[in-house]
Amino acid sequence: MDMKGKVAVVTGSGRGIGREIAVYLAKQGANVVVNVKKRVEDGNETLAEVKKYSAGMMVQADVSTRSGAKLLADETQKRYGRCDILVNNAGLGIGMPFLDSDDRLINKMVSTNYLSAIYCTQEFAKIMSEGSSVIMIASLAGIRPMVSLSLYGSLKAAIIKLTEYLALELKQKRIRVNAIAPSIVKTKMGESLIDYMHMTEDEYASKHTLTGRIIYPSEIAETVDFLVSSPNITGQTIIIDSGQSLIGDFQM
Ligand SMILES: NC(=O)c1ccc[n+]([C@@H]2O[C@H](COP(=O)([O-])OP(=O)(O)OC[C@H]3O[C@@H](n4cnc5c(N)ncnc54)[C@H](OP(=O)(O)O)[C@@H]3O)[C@@H](O)[C@H]2O)c1
Repeated sequence: MDMKGKVAVVTGSGRGIGREIAVYLAKQGANVVVNVKKRVEDGNETLAEVKKYSAGMMVQADVSTRSGAKLLADETQKRYGRCDILVNNAGLGIGMPFLDSDDRLINKMVSTNYLSAIYCTQEFAKIMSEGSSVIMIASLAGIRPMVSLSLYGSLKAAIIKLTEYLALELKQKRIRVNAIAPSIVKTKMGESLIDYMHMTEDEYASKHTLTGRIIYPSEIAETVDFLVSSPNITGQTIIIDSGQSLIGDFQM
């Protein structure tokens, strides 16, 4: 899709899937707002990549807080006056037995994996034009329960439901809302999940996938592009899981 002149905001785009989406959208011509919580160097690296193809800026803001989400939306409004694509990507994937999860972890998981999408969607809806898109990065763990991912997976399930509810509510503003639910993707988070399973990447790919290969962040970025470019798709979750959900072994 030709995204020249469009404004895209990708939360948590200092590395991993967020960075890949930010650069991909820049390649299609969008102006891209990069966001990090604290690692400004990571954000600057993503921004440098973005600027090879298009314009952009970087905003340091913790989107797990209302004030951080508002800051990100305010800075976007100040620079570009609007937002056409919001990707709620920031997330925190930690494997931990449910009974060992303390309040600090619980609050951090809820605010990063769920409240961030609520805060950002509310703040950005104020500056989103007709025909805009919100994309949520959910997870296969939000569809199929996996041992030790009770908090993470149930919050991603909430994101998938939120996607359906917001598709209904935001239709008045002609904003479409969709989600992507990947299984393990090759990023820092993906690698730490494979480590948690005491496996190598190859062992994971041969035991837990039908395709024998792990997912790359570029495949998520291409799916964002597909959803943004599909005017009749809303309220849907696209699963990208290398066939993992058909295998049925969800031990971590
Ligand atoms: N990788 C996987 O296997 C996988 C699978 C399914 C779904 N997902 C989902 O995909 C998304 C991206 O995952 P990833 O693998 O790319 O993760 P990652 O490598 O850990 O990168 C996460 C990025 O999000 C940023 N971030 C975290 N909390 C933030 C906050 N409160 N405000 C702003 N930025 C924040 C981090 O910035 P700082 O370093 O500054 O904190 C970092 O740049 C997440 O929603 C994740 O749940 C990942």
